[in-house]
Amino acid sequence: MTEMLRAPAEVKYAEELDWLESVDDGPKPFSWRLSPRMVRLFVLGSERADGLDREISQKWFGDRSFVERSIVTLASDRGLLLIGDPGTGKSWLAELLAAAISRNSTLVVQGTAGTTEDHIKYSWNVSMVIAKGQSRASMIPSPIMTAMEKGVIGRFEELTRSTSDVQDALISILSEKYVSIPELEDDNIVFAQPGFSIIATANSRDRGVNDLSSALKRRFNFVRIPVVTNKKSEAEIVRFRTSELLRRHQIELDVPPNLLDILLQSFADLRAAAASATSDDEKLESALSTAEQIGVLEDAILHSTFFGDRSLRAETLAGSLVGSLARRSPEDLAILNKYWHGVVEPRSKEDGGEWPAFLEGGRQAIATLS
Ligand SMILES: Nc1ncnc2c1ncn2[C@@H]1O[C@H](COP(=O)(O)OP(=O)(O)OP(=O)(O)O)[C@@H](O)[C@H]1O
Ligand SMILES: [Mg+2]
Repeated sequence: MTEMLRAPAEVKYAEELDWLESVDDGPKPFSWRLSPRMVRLFVLGSERADGLDREISQKWFGDRSFVERSIVTLASDRGLLLIGDPGTGKSWLAELLAAAISRNSTLVVQGTAGTTEDHIKYSWNVSMVIAKGQSRASMIPSPIMTAMEKGVIGRFEELTRSTSDVQDALISILSEKYVSIPELEDDNIVFAQPGFSIIATANSRDRGVNDLSSALKRRFNFVRIPVVTNKKSEAEIVRFRTSELLRRHQIELDVPPNLLDILLQSFADLRAAAASATSDDEKLESALSTAEQIGVLEDAILHSTFFGDRSLRAETLAGSLVGSLARRSPEDLAILNKYWHGVVEPRSKEDGGEWPAFLEGGRQAIATLS
């Protein structure tokens, strides 16, 4: 297999999926590749009680009820809309579900202000139309149309960023389950095969989900994904992602558990501060999601590998935290400065450990940026 910078989940976990398929004797809706129980197991990992001969790793961390409701939705005739703050793992969950159910997570449309109806229906290969006229052969199906023809899951990322025309086109796809091609005289309807569904994601910080038309809302089941605030699960997600990064870069470096604790603790503190802030100026611009935590640790690891002595230090971690979170000057810097004085400083006196080094690293980074 050729190398990819980032393999889709069905490629990355092909071996696991093959194995699950081979032992799966549960009933499968439509043309699903796995039964609902096996899909859940693939996403959430196996437990001893599952009685499997091998361990299946946990890939998405969060409440199982969200995963179950998502799976049930995909077996119904409504689409699935995953909503939540940035970096809560919505796209990753969508990818895992599409990989487990359809073995294809790459039929994706990205919603932007520039997304048009063509992007979710079809367009034409102009040179072929000129040479041979309009026919099915000169038509370029969109990823969604391809998903309909194959009876698999199509994905729509950032649904709320697309315009209302695009959203309207989606309504007809989700309710009629076909697309007509008025330019053609015959063979001019593409019907969705059983198994077709859509997983859309929407960021709750974008233009509101409430702006979706009620007709479209009715065709989706909403699953709200909260920011993970449980430190134990968060530590697991960060560790899971970081070990992948280290493997990908072939970096040999240990993340000391006490530095991971410091990272988790400071995010928890900053979230608590944001929750009690009374105005937006007192709130960091960042959503302080798990994904951002992963980003901070990733930067610190790469920095230590490229420019340091290949061991992760508290100073480097503090520098990368400040660097990632100080987006607005002066607001974000002021918030971080206040946090460093009010929380990190006393903690470094009381707890010691790596906190004094973290204090120093952060102070320097703040001073450089101020
Ligand atoms: N609950 C989680 N389980 C596993 N990984 C997670 C989880 N939350 C976040 N991540 C990791 O964080 C990164 C960002 O997640 P993802 O892109 O899915 O977020 P998102 O919710 O789609 O964000 P956005 O709204 O910005 O598109 C991914 O690498 C993902 O694996
Ligand atoms: Mg996303």
